[in-house]
Amino acid sequence: MYLHFAAFCFVHVLLFTRTESLVTETFNQDPIKISIETSRSQYVVDKNFVSFAFGDSAIKRHWKQIDLRSQKIQELARALSPSFLRQGGTESSFFLFDPNAEHQDSYFLETYEDDTQEKTYTNYTVTGEEWDLLNKFSSAVDFSLLFDFNVLLRTPNDQWDPSNAKLLLDYSSKRGYKLHFELGNEPNSMHHAVGRGVDPLQLGSDFKLLYKILKSHPFYNNSLLVGPDTTRPRKPSVLDYMEKFLSVAADVLDVVTWHHYYFDGKDCSVSDFLDVDLMNLLATYISDMRRVVDKYKPGAVMWLGETADAWGGGAKNLSDRYLAGFMWLDKLGLSAAKGISMVIKNTLQGGAYGAIRMDGTPAPTYWISLLHKHLVGETVLNVTCASNVSVTCQRQVRVYAHCTRTLSIYEKGSVTLIAINLQEDQAAVINVPERSIDQYLLSPYGSDGITSREIALNGKVLRWKFGQLPSFPPKKLSPGSSISLPPLTYGFFVLPKANAKACT
Ligand SMILES: *[C@@H]1O[C@H](CO)[C@@H](O)[C@H](O)[C@H]1NC(C)=O
Ligand SMILES: *[C@@H]1O[C@H](CO)[C@@H](O)[C@H](O)[C@H]1NC(C)=O
Ligand SMILES: *[C@@H]1O[C@H](CO)[C@@H](O)[C@H](O)[C@H]1NC(C)=O
Ligand SMILES: *[C@@H]1O[C@H](CO)[C@@H](O)[C@H](O)[C@H]1NC(C)=O
Ligand SMILES: *[C@@H]1O[C@H](CO)[C@@H](O)[C@H](O)[C@H]1NC(C)=O
Repeated sequence: MYLHFAAFCFVHVLLFTRTESLVTETFNQDPIKISIETSRSQYVVDKNFVSFAFGDSAIKRHWKQIDLRSQKIQELARALSPSFLRQGGTESSFFLFDPNAEHQDSYFLETYEDDTQEKTYTNYTVTGEEWDLLNKFSSAVDFSLLFDFNVLLRTPNDQWDPSNAKLLLDYSSKRGYKLHFELGNEPNSMHHAVGRGVDPLQLGSDFKLLYKILKSHPFYNNSLLVGPDTTRPRKPSVLDYMEKFLSVAADVLDVVTWHHYYFDGKDCSVSDFLDVDLMNLLATYISDMRRVVDKYKPGAVMWLGETADAWGGGAKNLSDRYLAGFMWLDKLGLSAAKGISMVIKNTLQGGAYGAIRMDGTPAPTYWISLLHKHLVGETVLNVTCASNVSVTCQRQVRVYAHCTRTLSIYEKGSVTLIAINLQEDQAAVINVPERSIDQYLLSPYGSDGITSREIALNGKVLRWKFGQLPSFPPKKLSPGSSISLPPLTYGFFVLPKANAKACT
């Protein structure tokens, strides 16, 4: 069964008269037709689909910038569970664990945000106490910790040296820390980034060694082995690296990961955050990776192992604005539709792109993630779009569908739509043949338009009240009305009476 929705574009013509009054005329254009296949699930994502990461800067700085003991951070994080928490990044290649080292209280560095611009790297020691902090945080907020081992600890004949990893495993198992593991970060570009690289065939053997160590460990024999965390396949050489690595390691790997960013945080503008071609390029990257991965590991589980809008720590004064929600929400919708099982956002907190800002307030990407956790289920439904206005359909107007999350207030059979309107001067109107629609429209709050720091749900600003779980009252649209997204907005729309077979 298909639900046929017609999405109409209403053109708002803005006429400025000399007295600066605003006249708005609305008239109808060709409809965009959208159908949702409700009889069959297209794909099922992981229950931790929206997950988060910490960069290495914070642990390297002895958790000076991120207070993992803070009740507020814990409360904000716990609301996002279940989730994985990846601890990794470029500096994982300089991580040394020493349970007996002294916790350094007086480490320099107020220049946290410039950290990612560092050109030279030095080893740093993480103490038992600092490692405990991360594990206790993860367990307190009900996240699953995914830890990235240092792949640049190598023997004279260039094999991975696991002795420091074994030390960490023994220390952690005695304390009952549940962990999953990776080895290395963006190994295909490591030479470029840090001046030393690892050959893909050798990395495959290194993964086999880690697999053997884990399987023979009484506490970690069920842990996931995840990798190789390459960059996005922008060039054939990235696919080539993945292919060579998998030719050795496919059998020992539980999950295939690679990273995705759209652009450089130092050098981007508002229009980049609305770039439809960049959004669609992710679909091409996913298909390219899937083709290579399926040669060695057909149907393998694939995650975006580290992802955000802009690399280099995010884009200051942009990645934490309403604006960043377009690409974040689109990445969630598109990845699920293309068979990505988990999307790990860099970062939970840290840099300009943290879901939680450095001042402890939730950024718009936090609220989007939280609403996604509440409303969007694991079952993905196929949305197709046929239109005479193909310029708009699934380009400037983007729609994704899932079964509604079963733990939510909605009954089985409900469907949740993710809808994004990137048109700057036209509303997107979607006609739904349903008697009831619950609207969760997200719009900028404040006078800064799409660069607002704050975000509103159905017109009401979202702010966290500590000690009080947030509630998200929908706006119930009156029977017979359409879904309407004003220009440059996004939102979730629940169809509680869709009675979709794939969702029952
Ligand atoms: C870090 O320590 C390892 C092991 O002692 C060593 O092989 C490596 O060269 C060091 N890296 C740097 C950047 O000093
Ligand atoms: C993991 O190790 C424990 C303890 O030695 C053992 O009981 C269990 O069967 C092992 N599980 C697997 C999957 O090997
Ligand atoms: C970001 O905004 C703050 C506060 O308005 C300002 O001080 C800072 O210079 C801005 N940074 C950049 C890189 O635009
Ligand atoms: C979605 O449905 C369309 C139209 O029936 C079909 O062509 C397409 O292959 C489907 N896509 C998936 C991923 O099932
Ligand atoms: C496209 O336009 C033609 C002619 O006006 C019409 O018959 C057809 O139904 C339209 N298709 C869609 C998908 O709107």
